Amino acid sequence: MGDPRLQEISAPVEPIDGLALAPLLNDMWDTMADANGAGLAAPQIGVMRRIVIFGYQTNPRYPDAPAVPETVLINPQITPLDDSREDGWEGCLSVPGMRGIVPRYRAIRYQGFDQYGEIIEREVSGFHARVVQHECDHLDGILYPQRIEDMRNFGFIDTLTEQGVMQLQACDDEP
Ligand code: NI
Repeated sequence: MGDPRLQEISAPVEPIDGLALAPLLNDMWDTMADANGAGLAAPQIGVMRRIVIFGYQTNPRYPDAPAVPETVLINPQITPLDDSREDGWEGCLSVPGMRGIVPRYRAIRYQGFDQYGEIIEREVSGFHARVVQHECDHLDGILYPQRIEDMRNFGFIDTLTEQGVMQLQACDDEP
């Protein structure tokens, strides 16, 4: 946080780009695995393109969260399925050591394509929907602290845990 690139709007990926997708995606999966995260967006490693990855089979940090399929989503579009929103704790690789409560749409449809050019279209809710909204925000230069409505619900992980304010479960990019 503080790097102006994280506030920029990323460019769509075009077939004529000649973007070397495979090495970029390898970098992204490695970075995400290092952080034991649930997702990552390309701008977080300095590539200003509309690419996000997310998903895990099991994650010790979210023992109760259902698995989210490991997904590469390029040029994503999100449509809320209704107006309902829910609060949940989030963290981010780009905002290390902190957590905050962020309202997100409960259920969304997301569309885009994968690394093979296949169309992806899914309707999801809960944690899966939260991760996708968090990651896609990165493509529009938005970090989760900008979405926090009550700044009293923002703090250092150690302190929040110590104070019993937060249980380590619903969060995103970062352990
Ligand atoms: Ni993030």
